[in-house]
Amino acid sequence: MAAITDFHFFQISVLFMFIYLSGFRAEAACDPKYQVIPGHSACLSKSPLASNSGVSSADQSLIVNKHNEYRGKVAPEATDMLKMSWDTYVAAVAQAWADNCDYIHDDGYKRTIPGRYWTGQNLGKATGQPALAWDSVVTMWYSEVNSFVYNSSSNVFADIGHYTQLVWAKTHKIGCGYAYCSTFHFYVCNYAPGGNGAGQVNTPYTSGPRCQSCKTCTNGLCDCGNADCMNGGTFNLTTCKCTCKKQAFYVQPYCGLNCTGITQSSTCGKAPFDSAGCAIYSNVPEDCPDTCGFCPVADSTGSGNVVLPGAANDVKVRRTFLIGLLLLASSIQALF
Ligand SMILES: *[C@@H]1O[C@H](CO)[C@@H](O)[C@H](O)[C@H]1NC(C)=O
Ligand SMILES: *[C@@H]1O[C@H](CO)[C@@H](O)[C@H](O)[C@H]1NC(C)=O
Ligand SMILES: *[C@@H]1O[C@H](CO)[C@@H](O)[C@H](O)[C@H]1NC(C)=O
Repeated sequence: MAAITDFHFFQISVLFMFIYLSGFRAEAACDPKYQVIPGHSACLSKSPLASNSGVSSADQSLIVNKHNEYRGKVAPEATDMLKMSWDTYVAAVAQAWADNCDYIHDDGYKRTIPGRYWTGQNLGKATGQPALAWDSVVTMWYSEVNSFVYNSSSNVFADIGHYTQLVWAKTHKIGCGYAYCSTFHFYVCNYAPGGNGAGQVNTPYTSGPRCQSCKTCTNGLCDCGNADCMNGGTFNLTTCKCTCKKQAFYVQPYCGLNCTGITQSSTCGKAPFDSAGCAIYSNVPEDCPDTCGFCPVADSTGSGNVVLPGAANDVKVRRTFLIGLLLLASSIQALF
């Protein structure tokens, strides 16, 4: 009798230790700036189901080029479509979510890059071998163009959300992750700044002569080179300079967050500009970064980038028999 009780106790102890150790590993693996957001995707432990994780550098180029190809050719034409580039922060968080092997959207706040961007997300799933090539995944998202009518109030978000994120003019960073999750291939692309803002989904870009607003036009896109624009700043497309939100803690040239001596508005801390609001509204972390716990860990004025989880690995070649389902693109709520 006693032996059996001891045995059970032993099993429970082992289980506890396992949970403790895996929890500890998860904490240790993620950067402090993600730890301020409970349950941030970057801090999740890799699922035991996940294998072949990562996006090769060749696929990173393919993903970016495919997006830019579609963005440059929208109809009606776009005056203000920014060229996209790969972002390692955004990609690492997308990879961590792919490695979680849960085919749903993670919460918008839990994939945010504190001190940099709120992000949008497109997901894809495929079964069979090998993995579906990334350009086919991007093309599946793009194919919703057939359900989209520019500036029509009859568009159904469920039918167009991946497309509108893909051609969201202001989105200029992308980062994707991949994992084979035992029974399916899981594709995750996160977008910064996120698109599909409430009330703007039917006009993801400004229609008019191609590149009319751009300083430099490359294949139908406003090409601002390596310039960035973070924390709710907006690119002035004729100069490629980022106009920051009015707060003094956003600094040129890219509107990085300066945590030194930060002074927030007196509305910060009061609902909905409080910690609950941080998780719901994309502009609350921008307007009240200290309230959201971003200072000092998410200061983005320096150049000292940290080593991120989810480094890219080469994806092995496999054959595909079946194209899977797609979920809705997630949308962003903003409070004004
Ligand atoms: C969308 O359509 C409305 C009504 O026709 C018009 O007033 C508005 O200017 C259009 N918006 C854009 C961005 O084309
Ligand atoms: C962009 O910058 C130019 C030059 O500084 C300025 O004249 C223009 O008004 C700005 N455009 C916007 C939309 O702010
Ligand atoms: C950050 O703000 C402090 C205090 O205002 C200022 O002294 C410092 O120069 C700022 N840093 C940057 C990179 O702008």
